[in-house]
Amino acid sequence: MILIIDFGSQYNQLIARRVREHKVFCRIEPPGIPLEEVRRLAPEGIILSGGPASIYEKGSPKCDPGILSLGIPVLGICYGMQFMVNALGGRVDRAAKREYGPAELVVLDRSGLFSGVNERTPCWMSHGDSIAALPEGFRVTAKTANTPFGAAADEARGLYGVQFHPEVTHTPQGSLILKNFLFGVCGCKKSWTMKSFVRDSVEDIRARAGDGKVILGLSGGVDSSVAAVLIHRAIGGNLFPIFVDNGLLRANEAERLSKVFKENLKVPVRLVKAGKRFFSELKGVEDPEKKRKIIGRVFMEVFEAEAKKIKGVKFLAQGTLYPDVIESVSAFGGPTAVIKSHHNVGGLPKKMRLSLIEPLRFLFKDEVRALGTELGLPDDMVWRQPFPGPGLAIRIIGPVTKERADLLRRVDAVLNEEIKAHGYYRKLWQSFAVLLPIKSVGIMGDLRTYENIAAIRAVTSTDAMTADWARLPHELLALISNRIINEIRGVNRVVYDISSKPPSTIEWE
Ligand code: XMP
Repeated sequence: MILIIDFGSQYNQLIARRVREHKVFCRIEPPGIPLEEVRRLAPEGIILSGGPASIYEKGSPKCDPGILSLGIPVLGICYGMQFMVNALGGRVDRAAKREYGPAELVVLDRSGLFSGVNERTPCWMSHGDSIAALPEGFRVTAKTANTPFGAAADEARGLYGVQFHPEVTHTPQGSLILKNFLFGVCGCKKSWTMKSFVRDSVEDIRARAGDGKVILGLSGGVDSSVAAVLIHRAIGGNLFPIFVDNGLLRANEAERLSKVFKENLKVPVRLVKAGKRFFSELKGVEDPEKKRKIIGRVFMEVFEAEAKKIKGVKFLAQGTLYPDVIESVSAFGGPTAVIKSHHNVGGLPKKMRLSLIEPLRFLFKDEVRALGTELGLPDDMVWRQPFPGPGLAIRIIGPVTKERADLLRRVDAVLNEEIKAHGYYRKLWQSFAVLLPIKSVGIMGDLRTYENIAAIRAVTSTDAMTADWARLPHELLALISNRIINEIRGVNRVVYDISSKPPSTIEWE
């Protein structure tokens, strides 16, 4: 296992991704991690991440310098290297200007960390301060035109530093450099696979849950489905997955999910059909935040009522993923402004006094997908696009009714049928339709129509933090528009959303 100390770099998740791509497990911890805990974790190597601060800044993140003398190899990246140099008696100078962007790395010693790396290779720089003198025992191993100490090493102590970012794709041989650190320096083994993950987590879940009962809210999404199957494999009938059909799901979603769980996976699901209740509570509500709050509250009530039917529940399982975990402990992570209140079942454990089981809390999304496949989930569930908790309600602008939800469901189904048929479904982060609260005039045959407008939203993204509207071929858009207007009574105009995020958001409400 590799321990990554998070000094707040925007790239720290990427470091973890790269390490895991080499089939080595790693975890990210904040700088405040006690030395004792590091010893207990006994990592094979430690990576100190980059970070936006200057080591001279008040309150800049620091870890226990004892980490550098545990006898465990350490690789400092950017700020991590500067921290190491400073802690060991070298000199870091405050920069007059930042160095940001591509640079050519000249490798002076093509062994160790740079074994197999070209003598000259592109690298990505992003730093303010620079190293002016190395601590005793270190020697310089690479440089760039602006950075005389581009990389340095003290092999005897197993300490390495790189001023550039090997984890980003702009450093094409960065993965090789990390690989050299993992296998050449730390002696890691390629042991992190989904098979090993299943084996270990099944044991963990069994140990934690004992013979206690566990409830889990299925959303139809990848994460909760995968969590359910994994936990079921560990504790079988003591897992009670509950699926609340709020009437605001995509077409056939509830049926498909129940069927797959029951027939393919042999996991019984409690399906609660609560559409009526949701529509009645949403009646006449237009304000997006109000919609979200109502749906969140009603979901909680329905879920809780169902959960109460199961006697002696001790645990609530959730499909929380690693990025959320990291965000909540990140060195610089603070509460960000609430743009949209996302709904989840966060309030339940407190109210019902349940302990949490989060078996995916160390996984990234693509790993969850691989895990889903490993556990036998069908492709269409594993590769499902994200879908918001409040469902179609935040895609029906204005008041939400069952009729409008049914209409939007049909539009959405046609849209995604074509998106899938043309091979775009997996390439897009999301593709969906939005029902607008205005009508427009059209002509069908010889008759005037006055009907609804559907907007199509299709975006590309890697993490939903930013997104761009997808440049779908005009022919495909034409086909989609034609099919929707011809096949679905009640829509006579289709428009395409060409806004990126920011400043727009992905969902309309
Ligand atoms: P926005 O609209 O803020 O959405 O750009 C970013 C991503 O989050 C999804 N989303 C939600 N997911 N509960 C969820 O589980 C919610 O309340 C919710 N609201 C938005 C959205 O679909 C997009 O992928």
